[in-house]
Amino acid sequence: MKNHILIIGSGIAALQCARLLPSHKTIHLITKREIYESSSYYAQGGIATVWHHEDSFSSHEQDTHEAGVNHTNHEMVQLLVREGHIATKELIQAGLPVDRTSDGEVSLGLEGAHSHHRIIHSGGDATGKNTIEFLYKTLPSNVIVHEQECAIQLIKNPEQRVIGVYTKNVEGALCRYTGEAVILATGGIGSLYPQTSNCENSFGDGIALAYLAGATVADLEFIQFHPTLLFQEGKTHGLVSEAVRGAGARFVNEQQHYFMEDYSQRDLAPRHITAKAVYDQIKQGHTVFLDISCVENFTTQFPSIAKKCSDLSISLETQRIPITVGSHFLMGGIMTNVNSETSLPGLYAIGEVACNGIHGANRLASNSLLEGLAFGKRLAKHLHTSCEIDYTENVITTQKEQLPSLMTPSVLQQHMMHAVGIIRNEHDLDQLSTQLQQPLLQDVRHLTQLDIEHYFMHITAQLIVQAALARKESRGGHIRSDYPQSDNSLTQTLFIQQKDQPIY
Ligand code: SIN
Repeated sequence: MKNHILIIGSGIAALQCARLLPSHKTIHLITKREIYESSSYYAQGGIATVWHHEDSFSSHEQDTHEAGVNHTNHEMVQLLVREGHIATKELIQAGLPVDRTSDGEVSLGLEGAHSHHRIIHSGGDATGKNTIEFLYKTLPSNVIVHEQECAIQLIKNPEQRVIGVYTKNVEGALCRYTGEAVILATGGIGSLYPQTSNCENSFGDGIALAYLAGATVADLEFIQFHPTLLFQEGKTHGLVSEAVRGAGARFVNEQQHYFMEDYSQRDLAPRHITAKAVYDQIKQGHTVFLDISCVENFTTQFPSIAKKCSDLSISLETQRIPITVGSHFLMGGIMTNVNSETSLPGLYAIGEVACNGIHGANRLASNSLLEGLAFGKRLAKHLHTSCEIDYTENVITTQKEQLPSLMTPSVLQQHMMHAVGIIRNEHDLDQLSTQLQQPLLQDVRHLTQLDIEHYFMHITAQLIVQAALARKESRGGHIRSDYPQSDNSLTQTLFIQQKDQPIY
């Protein structure tokens, strides 16, 4: 519908964009669970931005490139660092409460691979929660929020422009929305793995939706694993923020061996190095902890983590927090340009679901909330000027196809960790690729929401496996035991469906 814009998702990029879009447009913000059920909400890390006079944009850019292992796009990184700084400042001026020193200056934390203290926190380790609550509470009245509705299929017109989306709720009701722009802000893929820091249900829906509609997806093999997920009785319970190591905590195993020194010169090395080290220790049969004895005032600095430990009966008196590795962030995604346009007209992607070149092969800590603020705002500004199109609609129905038989979600998660987890090889990838092969469905509207999510999981998993097979080198969040070296001749891994696209 003219003057309507559709946003799918409710994380930081979605909310930032929604609040800054033109006020004369009606914005439908559609989210598959409750508004606060996003990975942004659980982010403990903070917002990385240049603040101290001794820090500089070029230093932040350099750190971003180095973490991304030379797979980053210079123009996009500049936009992230510079526009992200302005967007963060605006948010603080608008009233986002941030942690301050006793003399009222903004406190600046340190995280892995940053060469300056530049991480801004809110409520200690509750930055995601506080930021999302602030953004949500300040949404203007032209934003209509639809909760518990899952986007299941994009709608295109005969000119192949994306003009809308079908949604389904758990009761099975099908809804059809159309708009001038459809913005995917659906987050990452953490739930394709058995252990993740992401919110539940991060199945990569946005990637499957976009791919099935014919959009180009890129670099899906680059997946960041986080070295410190809280681990108790065989289960993970969210993150123990890297800021805890920034405040002095160290990796240690049950033999009191500070094992990071066997792998790197610093405990705060980039994540692909620390995650691989922790994984290696676990594979050798060790139990891994964070030694927090050097962290001052742990409970005051990290109230949410302290509370979680207490809820799980993990005593901080022992000065050790049990941890393990888990999937954390997808660097690849739906390919986008500076204006967050995908390869399909009318379709945009922002936040973790997008691949715009800023994270390269591995994301720098706390750059993701910054990305949501920078690119949510950038897209809103772009749509102020460009979103005045007329389009024709054409609705056809297709025959109902059967859902192919699929692995259960938990079996799929185990296979993903084995074949396309922290360390990959051709044999395991090939085997999983064969197991995941299935016909693509033209139309999923007749399926239940749960079946569609399950189907999307398989589509995204298959794309990740294909991307990991195609990249015959090791770089950042993609480590191949059979190709341990980097090969600078390889560029992006791109996938687009090679067939005529149906119109719904
Ligand atoms: C963390 O708190 O360790 C995560 C921060 C991030 O991934 O940016």
